[in-house]
Amino acid sequence: MTEKEFIPTSYTTLKDEGVVAYSSPSNIALVKYWGKRENQIPANPSISFTLASCATITKVHFKKREKKDDNFSFELLFEGEVKDEFKPKINTFLRRIEQYLPFLKDYHFKIDTSNSFPHSSGIASSASGMSALALCFMEMERTFSNAISQEYFNKKVSFLSRLGSGSACRSIEGPLVQWGDCNAFEGSSNLFGIKYPYEVHSVFNNFQDTILLVDKGEKQVSSTVGHELMHGHPFASQRFEQAHNNLEKLRTVFAEGNLNEFISIVESEALTLHAMMMTSSPYFILMKPNTLSIINAIWKFRKESKTHVCFTLDAGANVHLLYPENEREVVLHFIKEVLVPFCQNGQYICDRIGLGAKKL
Ligand code: PMV
Repeated sequence: MTEKEFIPTSYTTLKDEGVVAYSSPSNIALVKYWGKRENQIPANPSISFTLASCATITKVHFKKREKKDDNFSFELLFEGEVKDEFKPKINTFLRRIEQYLPFLKDYHFKIDTSNSFPHSSGIASSASGMSALALCFMEMERTFSNAISQEYFNKKVSFLSRLGSGSACRSIEGPLVQWGDCNAFEGSSNLFGIKYPYEVHSVFNNFQDTILLVDKGEKQVSSTVGHELMHGHPFASQRFEQAHNNLEKLRTVFAEGNLNEFISIVESEALTLHAMMMTSSPYFILMKPNTLSIINAIWKFRKESKTHVCFTLDAGANVHLLYPENEREVVLHFIKEVLVPFCQNGQYICDRIGLGAKKL
């Protein structure tokens, strides 16, 4: 597919007014996307677990404008309060997607959005937030059009979400979504995420993700800047090649349910992501001392308990603990006894692998 196929030719019924609402989840990458080309095209393919509970709930009320001009017209409420500081980001997003949704300037939008996870928990909300908004706009397109298949809907909404935040394109479906051209994955695309198309062993059913909130402060370096620093990075090409290899290896891991191999790929990916940050120019570190304390405690516990808990990190200090459902009790006990003291205000979130966005 090409971008052109996402440009609609005409609409059958443009409505004057209406409301659309979606809940869209966050996701956690197993093979990480880090580095991009123009138009949010990933420098390497990635794969993620879609989460079940951490989500953004967005309701968009749309009303035909009496007079259209060159600007987008919208107001924004976050958790019930006017949030003008989020508007520039949304304006940029609207500008990027306008050619694919040509009705955007015809309407005034009231965007009412909230997160299911605690505000400013340091959890990346751009994936859930951007995908929830893209879903609402795409739902509008669906009501204006004659026949949009669910397959086209999912592809286009993932495509649009990607233009808001790269990783957002992996939040529409679940439980596993792959994004980015990759020889090992039939149907893979740089333009949108696809539902993992191969066999997955039952050991991954209802896989758990407990997110330890290590640092809830503002990140020193944004993901946008971090991605940029992969241009001219001394290890970039080896890193991109490694991501392709890890994706290929994960295919076998998922089919066989090989948790030990899963752990070594996922932890290596997390540390490589942070190694890329530490070897950028300028270099930076997003992990905190407690991130490392948690990692060391996980390694010790895993050895002693013979469980299959592992960690992954996104672009921040928080730690995601991934483990099979049948080890839940013993891992949660370990978290409460050993890891909670390393969390800011003792906070952590219990989540698990989920099935994607929901229309409300
Ligand atoms: O979607 P962005 O631009 O916020 O980048 C996200 C990058 C990571 O979370 C670090 C990795 C990933 O694949 O989600």
